[in-house]
Amino acid sequence: MQIAVVFHSGYGHTARQAQAVAEGVEQSGHAKALLVDVAKDIPWDELGSSAGMIFGCPTYMGGPSAVFKKFMEDSSSRWMKQEWADKVAAGFTTSSSQSGDKLNTLVSLAIFAAQHGMFWISTGLMPGNNVSTGSVNDINRLGSWMGAMAQANFDQPAELAPPESDLLTAQKLGLRVAAAAKRFAGA
Ligand SMILES: Cc1cc2nc3c(=O)[nH]c(=O)nc-3n(C[C@H](O)[C@H](O)[C@H](O)COP(=O)(O)O)c2cc1C
Repeated sequence: MQIAVVFHSGYGHTARQAQAVAEGVEQSGHAKALLVDVAKDIPWDELGSSAGMIFGCPTYMGGPSAVFKKFMEDSSSRWMKQEWADKVAAGFTTSSSQSGDKLNTLVSLAIFAAQHGMFWISTGLMPGNNVSTGSVNDINRLGSWMGAMAQANFDQPAELAPPESDLLTAQKLGLRVAAAAKRFAGA
């Protein structure tokens, strides 16, 4: 089965997160990841034939980036036909601040998936870095259930940020969505 990782990235940070999500999908051993950059041509028919979709974009001005929002609006013709109904969905986002209002972006992505009749998959991860023995190296260091969060210092290039812990968190989301898609397929 195929899971589409549908993303936008202005400066490469969210693209790294998308790559990590895709790696997680493929770690499942039963699912292939299709990386779809919405700033390029969108393979709408391939999205329609995917078992699930994982949406991701940077948080810009407290919400989804405009380029990703355009993809959301452009999907309305698919919404009319409820073409994506009953597929699994999940989301991820990157921003530079520790909070940066990333949750608002994930909520927007979850509502978008709900409008398409999709099943939203949470991270299913316990929060990290919230005890005295915790560290920024913990999985889910930003403590998100709605989707995978990553934080990238804005003075660092995508090769250096977000940190490994956020990329591992993203991988785990990809793996979980692939597992959920298999269960939903009854395979
Ligand atoms: C137009 C714009 C708006 C931004 N708004 C926020 C924001 O609301 N919160 C935040 O923490 N960072 C904000 N940032 C920082 C980006 O989220 C951050 O640099 C992120 O890593 C960019 O991801 P990208 O490289 O995939 O585009 C903003 C950046 C830009 C360019």
